[in-house]
Amino acid sequence: MKIMSVVGARPQFVKLAPIAQALTADGHEHVIVHTGQHYDPMLSDVFFRDLGIPEPDAHLGVGSGSHGAQTGAMLAQMDEVLERFQPDCVLVYGDTNSTLAAAVSAVKLHYPVAHLEAGLRSFNRAMPEEHNRVLTDHAADLCLAPTEVAVGHLAHEGLAERTVLVGDVMTDVLFQVRDAVRTSDASNPLADLDAADGYYVATIHRAENTDDPERLREVVDALAEVDRPVVLLAHPRVRAKAQEHGIDLDTGALTTRDPLAYPELIAAVLDSAGVITDSGGLQKEAFLLRVPCTTVRRETEWVETVELGWNVLANTSSEITAAVTRPAPRPTDEAPYGDGHAAVRAVSAIVEGLSR
Ligand code: UD1
Repeated sequence: MKIMSVVGARPQFVKLAPIAQALTADGHEHVIVHTGQHYDPMLSDVFFRDLGIPEPDAHLGVGSGSHGAQTGAMLAQMDEVLERFQPDCVLVYGDTNSTLAAAVSAVKLHYPVAHLEAGLRSFNRAMPEEHNRVLTDHAADLCLAPTEVAVGHLAHEGLAERTVLVGDVMTDVLFQVRDAVRTSDASNPLADLDAADGYYVATIHRAENTDDPERLREVVDALAEVDRPVVLLAHPRVRAKAQEHGIDLDTGALTTRDPLAYPELIAAVLDSAGVITDSGGLQKEAFLLRVPCTTVRRETEWVETVELGWNVLANTSSEITAAVTRPAPRPTDEAPYGDGHAAVRAVSAIVEGLSR
């Protein structure tokens, strides 16, 4: 089959890596389209390099913009890209504006669409990602679900017949990179910190935490108060918003660094005392590495991490401080995110479900 992957943002490159491997191993033709939603080298190029992903076959170069402008710029270019490559199927990833744009343009031109990481729900309709994922699931011909919970959401919305449980492809890549990090000389880039009792790794980038200056100040103040150094791997969005509102991100326990490449991030998290984040992927990565996580949100799509005690949702300043300093969670050998072979299953499901 000729399968087109459309990606544009950092977490999508991580998910693309095991899919690209599995497609090549199974002898398929793989066309990669990069929308250009993320363009900073540390948010894009390093992932292709470190995870061995082939160069994109097409680059739309859309860059940043309001939701409508960014999504519209992708839509405007996708018709030509689809007609040029004529794939048998278009594979879209996760819940970004790139996901929605690719799904909508493909279904309009009658190309079959598979959605990887289908069925996740936060039930928070103020999140742009929630609209992206719901609309994409309902446009898709095949919903590739990462968890039983996601399968349940899709069934509840009448999509059971289009759904296949494949597991979580981020588990595939995480296990590969974790093992490579453990057996190589790759060093933890945060080892230079003066942190005798350990440190926390933090990422904060979601609009709900960054765009309102009062909210950003509340999160920053909470992180500045905790009991160990907190290293904020600052996404350009949080840096830009902090500068715009005169908020100092290097204050108290809190210090900033630039975002890390994937293997360095995994090395830094493995050595840390905990993770503090509003990212979806990092919550799960912390769980899979058995590092306690505090999620700076009111809800999560990855409910299993919370149910198993390794992730705590914390929204207010006092909730954040209490969650970060809580006692260690109970060990578990549950594996709600699959066995590290989800990409192979996803490729089989696409071949079985969408071959014409
Ligand atoms: C996007 C996704 C989010 C995902 C995140 C991963 C949507 C709606 N959101 O959020 O689901 O978790 O990617 O990181 O698609 N910027 C740069 N350089 C870049 C990219 C962005 O400086 O390479 C800055 C720009 O100021 C831009 C802002 O970050 O306006 C936001 O970027 P955008 O792509 O709109 O969303 P993210 O916050 O990255």
